[in-house]
Amino acid sequence: SVVEKYLQPFQLSPETLQEVSARLRKDLLRGLGKHSHHKAPVKMLPTFVRATPDGTEKGDFLALDLGGTNFRVLHVRVEEEAQKVLKMDSQICAIPQEMMLGTGEQLFDHIATCLGDFLESHNLKCQTLPLGFTFSFPCEQLEIDKSILIRWTKGFNCSGVEGKDVVQLLKEAIQRTGDYHIGSVAMVNDTVGTMMSCGYKDQSCEIGMIIGTGTNACYMEEIKNVKRIEGEDGRMCINTEWGGFGDDGSLDDILTEFDVEVDKTSINPGVHIFEKMISGMYLGEIVRLVLVKMTKDKLLFKGQISEALGTSGRFETKFISEIEDGLENAKKILTELGLDWGLVDASVVCLVCDTISSRSAYLCAAALATLVNRIRNNRKLDHLKTTVGVDGTVYRKHPTFSSKLQKAVRLLAPQCDITFLVSEDGSGKGAAMVTAVAQRLAHQSRLLEESDGEDDDDEEEEEGQ
Ligand code: GLC
Repeated sequence: SVVEKYLQPFQLSPETLQEVSARLRKDLLRGLGKHSHHKAPVKMLPTFVRATPDGTEKGDFLALDLGGTNFRVLHVRVEEEAQKVLKMDSQICAIPQEMMLGTGEQLFDHIATCLGDFLESHNLKCQTLPLGFTFSFPCEQLEIDKSILIRWTKGFNCSGVEGKDVVQLLKEAIQRTGDYHIGSVAMVNDTVGTMMSCGYKDQSCEIGMIIGTGTNACYMEEIKNVKRIEGEDGRMCINTEWGGFGDDGSLDDILTEFDVEVDKTSINPGVHIFEKMISGMYLGEIVRLVLVKMTKDKLLFKGQISEALGTSGRFETKFISEIEDGLENAKKILTELGLDWGLVDASVVCLVCDTISSRSAYLCAAALATLVNRIRNNRKLDHLKTTVGVDGTVYRKHPTFSSKLQKAVRLLAPQCDITFLVSEDGSGKGAAMVTAVAQRLAHQSRLLEESDGEDDDDEEEEEGQ
């Protein structure tokens, strides 16, 4: 049909998906390589997370979560006996749009103030709790508490932060409040938090994946393959930053004119190309652009573009989930967008939404297949059984996204048996887990050092690192 002509460029065959997966496989190697990583589009960032939880972690923690739909402050308790991570309290702090594009100092002052208010209202000010900072942007991590922002992604673009140590900026802002103290800090990407929060329940959880405002994944890599850090035994969690896949043009052949347009009008043109085909920040806009074109060509809405449909950002990604959930929702949304629709219009809109969300699910599947196949090859296994911790509004809220993704991964990675675990509050609880595991490891290595000398003093309370 005529409609098909518009949608066909979004339909990727299994062969194309396999090709995408193979290209990503090469890019993972480039990102890990000693000399190639500087220029690699997929950054493969070491996270200094060397172990998943072993179930002995415990204690109270603060967590900050910046980079998803909301900025949040949390108080989290890890309970050893119950093997549970409990969210004690949490609070959402809005970050106004202007602040997302303002100065870094304003942003961090705001964060420090929100944290202070939270501590005040929950009577935690007198304690010095360790803090896990889920900061969901690409960072070159030098230590668990030293993390340089490579660049902003998604809706953020604050000045004076790129190239700086985010932990330092946070600590300075807290000092400026002159009001409270925090303990040791652990920096965490949301993918890592998601993996770690699932890892307490399921110790075979070795991948964390986010399909929300942005998209990304982390996984446990053999340290000997991470050529840019000193070779050692064991594994380290690598934050792939797969959103940057395609930034060197490697996906140009599958981009549609609409993807090109979304990229051009974004606040960071040319970067995070893969993310712009997949994640919640962009899907609605892709649909909108397709609908606008079809309307201009008189295929929809009697050729009339309403003001809302003509305005970028007005077709929200959550509309896609709602529309695909039922024709009645579609009608309601089209009316709200001021469109003069008929039944055919409504069903074409459903089809457009389905095509674009399906492509997103299949591309994620191709990328995930690359990771599980890599882990399987690393371990020289014929068959790998593993768990993926997942989070993100697109994955959670869309009616068929997760089942499409799972089905496609099974096709693309037939030798892998994958369990998907939706993480409950991964970036909050996971940040606490990372902090807890870091403390456990620091404690263990201190005990080892001490046992060379005097008696162990293992009743001593752990503080700092
Ligand atoms: C963006 C960020 C990445 C994050 C992802 C999901 O891709 O660069 O760090 O994990 O969004 O929030």
